[in-house]
Amino acid sequence: MKLSNKVAVVTGAASGMGKAIAELYAEEGAKVIVADLNIDGAKTVVEGIRNNGGTAIAVQANVAKLEDIENMIDTAVKEFDSLDILVNNAGIMDGFEPVGDISDERWDLIFDINTKGVMRAMRKAIPLFLKKGKGVIINVASTGGLNGAHAGAAYGASKHAVVGLTKNTAYMYANEGIRCNAIAPGGVATNIGASMKNINEFGFGRTKAVQAVMPRIGEAEEIAQAALFLASDDASFVNGSVLVADGGWTAAF
Ligand SMILES: NC(=O)c1ccc[n+]([C@@H]2O[C@H](COP(=O)([O-])OP(=O)(O)OC[C@H]3O[C@@H](n4cnc5c(N)ncnc54)[C@H](O)[C@@H]3O)[C@@H](O)[C@H]2O)c1
Repeated sequence: MKLSNKVAVVTGAASGMGKAIAELYAEEGAKVIVADLNIDGAKTVVEGIRNNGGTAIAVQANVAKLEDIENMIDTAVKEFDSLDILVNNAGIMDGFEPVGDISDERWDLIFDINTKGVMRAMRKAIPLFLKKGKGVIINVASTGGLNGAHAGAAYGASKHAVVGLTKNTAYMYANEGIRCNAIAPGGVATNIGASMKNINEFGFGRTKAVQAVMPRIGEAEEIAQAALFLASDDASFVNGSVLVADGGWTAAF
């Protein structure tokens, strides 16, 4: 097993890629904090992990709230005595608004969840990692964090910021045993569509040509395998990278 006795916190773990990552990490021996805004969903994931012989605890956490993020990490330390791996996966889509149509409210919500939540969770984890002299961070960005038009202005900007945060963190703590990488998934079959509210017809229309060259939609389990690699010692020399997992989609651009 690749993650024996490691303690992992995974945000947004009630659904989609976070769920697949939590399940795979548990299969590989990690004790997992399954954190999500949706506590019922998180509890169902934990039940599945336990039925499979794994160890996990559900924690309700809205990553837009500082106290929830702190409680999520504190719970890992309290219940499992440690933190080894932090996966910042929770995120929501925007409504494909171009900058001319974005409201301050939508912008702030997207950034609070997709970007500030990632910064705050890393900020809370870093002192623990420094004390141990090791730690792994994996941020789920997006191909929209590397390219211009996979969603609207707010989503794209929020994920570009996650890529920047990832690289800065990787370099800053490179001599302290801490690795920080991002995954940039392409289109993946999850429930993220539910977070797309009030679709902007103009913005959505502009992205259609980009979507049209996507070879296929990926499965959450395929992203979990990338997250396992980055969390494991197999990736001991991989730091500050953005692993694109998109079936070749953005190779077209
Ligand atoms: N699905 C895709 O095509 C795709 C592509 C690239 C990147 N991503 C990114 O992957 C990550 C996971 O998304 P997914 O596709 O698995 O979506 P999903 O909607 O299936 O799962 C996201 C989970 O995050 C939770 N969540 C939402 N807001 C939250 C908050 N404020 N606090 C805590 N939890 C919250 C949801 O309850 C849900 O369980 C996101 O960061 C998303 O931006 C998705």
